[in-house]
Amino acid sequence: MEGSKSNPPISFSFVFFLFLTVLSPMVAQQQQSPIKTVVVLVMENRSFDHMIGWMKKSVNPAINGVTGNECNPVSTKDPNSQSICFTDGSEFVDPDPGHSFDAVEQQVFGSTTFPSMSGFVEQALSISPNLSETVMKGFRPEAVPVYTSLVGEFAVFDRCNVKKQLVQGFPQKTIFESLHENGLNFGIYFQNIPTTLFYRNLRKLKYVSKFHQFDLSFKKHARDGKLPSLTVIEPRYFDIKAWPANDDHPSHDVANGQKLVKEVYETLRASPQWNETLLVITYDEHGGFYDHVQTPFENVPNPDGNTGPAPSFFKFDRLGVRVPTIMVSPWIKKGTVVSGPNGPAPNSEFEHSSIPATIKKMFNLPSNFLTHRDAWAGTFEGVVWELSSPRTDCPETLPDAVPLRTTEAKEDAALSEFQSEIVQLAAVLNGDHFLSSFPNEMSKNMTVKEAHKYTRGAVSRFIRASKEAVKLGADESTIVDMRSSLTTKSSNP
Ligand SMILES: *[C@@H]1O[C@H](CO)[C@@H](O)[C@H](O)[C@H]1NC(C)=O
Ligand SMILES: *[C@@H]1O[C@H](CO)[C@@H](O)[C@H](O)[C@H]1NC(C)=O
Ligand SMILES: *[C@@H]1O[C@H](CO)[C@@H](O)[C@H](O)[C@H]1NC(C)=O
Ligand SMILES: *[C@@H]1O[C@H](CO)[C@@H](O)[C@H](O)[C@H]1NC(C)=O
Repeated sequence: MEGSKSNPPISFSFVFFLFLTVLSPMVAQQQQSPIKTVVVLVMENRSFDHMIGWMKKSVNPAINGVTGNECNPVSTKDPNSQSICFTDGSEFVDPDPGHSFDAVEQQVFGSTTFPSMSGFVEQALSISPNLSETVMKGFRPEAVPVYTSLVGEFAVFDRCNVKKQLVQGFPQKTIFESLHENGLNFGIYFQNIPTTLFYRNLRKLKYVSKFHQFDLSFKKHARDGKLPSLTVIEPRYFDIKAWPANDDHPSHDVANGQKLVKEVYETLRASPQWNETLLVITYDEHGGFYDHVQTPFENVPNPDGNTGPAPSFFKFDRLGVRVPTIMVSPWIKKGTVVSGPNGPAPNSEFEHSSIPATIKKMFNLPSNFLTHRDAWAGTFEGVVWELSSPRTDCPETLPDAVPLRTTEAKEDAALSEFQSEIVQLAAVLNGDHFLSSFPNEMSKNMTVKEAHKYTRGAVSRFIRASKEAVKLGADESTIVDMRSSLTTKSSNP
């Protein structure tokens, strides 16, 4: 029974494959890395041009950004169609642009057989007349001042694409386990829920001590010089008045994301570990926002020979739309712009599996085979090789972002698809997924506020019970099997 209900259905969300282990292509003679701590922060659903494109003009002309001559026709089938061109002045975004599989196909291909990036306007218009301008706008650098500072001071990667991969179930081995097996530590600093728990293996008792509440522990561990080798920070995915979401997913205000990045940077900058730290900030998807760079689609290896479901039978042989990626370290030269990688294949690109592939190299972890795609992805350890000593001129503080939203969080809104996946994960942790009313009723019918409360409760119950089991000496490779509290406390739902 358990097998059939224990895993929530999945989409192509980023977290599901970011941390899978990888095959290192040829462990060549390596330079000693000055980095002992890699901090990863993944934000949600904004394209490169939308967040960073306009920095070409005012921050660094070497960036492959926008000029304003990037246009999309209202109709890709009509040669005389009006066009809408990319402008600055992006504001608070609501509603969310389309980013389902079909929406992305339309955005990338329009009516062509190659990725002409011509269908963003047409696809947006199919949802709402107002959305076409939303997707064709980027932020003025002063609206995202934290990124503007970091791009000017450290490195921006302007050729980083989303990985498209079919992930079936979650039993895969992750980079976390590779680190653990090799005596290296990792830590997940979460706010609402550690979505890394979608990986079943990470629910084992031996890993329960790796999960920390961001607000309670991140600053303390940084101050004490105790951040683990791989430190993952998870943003808030639920938009609550007192605790607005800071994952950048529309309609969440990017000013809150900027605040989170600022807090993380300033904490690391003040830590005794700063001189050995690399911070990686990236995005899981482009979220339906325009980007002008054609998605790589030639000779991209299919990871595992699988194809997607009907009717498209996607072969996973192209990458997704470009996403923002910023890297920060005192070992990075001011104003660095990194485009494509050097190998391992002549047409290799940076994409999401570049992160575990690089971590493996930096920490010299023995190879673990995962897919053909990971072996092909470029790695970025060289970004910290340019200098012979760490910089001492890195800013200690970053500017504040001005809120773009003038209203309060919509706590009573219905859940997004991702939020209902989170509720389903929470229900698995909590034991509620065994109830016959679950998941259809519960995860689809909650408000954001209810889901937030439910999720927090489920996570803390799960972690508390796991810690209790560790104390009682339970086998460390087991996973706590919670009994639903809803059946026993039906008067208090
Ligand atoms: C971002 O978009 C992807 C692709 O549509 C989706 O799977 C994911 O859940 C979205 N993230 C959030 C936070 O909604
Ligand atoms: C479109 O924009 C107008 C003016 O900004 C607004 O009144 C209207 O509600 C918007 N419509 C939709 C569908 O978002
Ligand atoms: C980092 O290295 C620089 C240059 O060697 C040094 O001046 C600084 O004190 C170091 N900072 C920390 C936190 O160790
Ligand atoms: C789901 O929401 C609808 C509309 O708000 C409500 O009428 C219905 O009772 C809810 N169902 C459950 C099972 O809570």
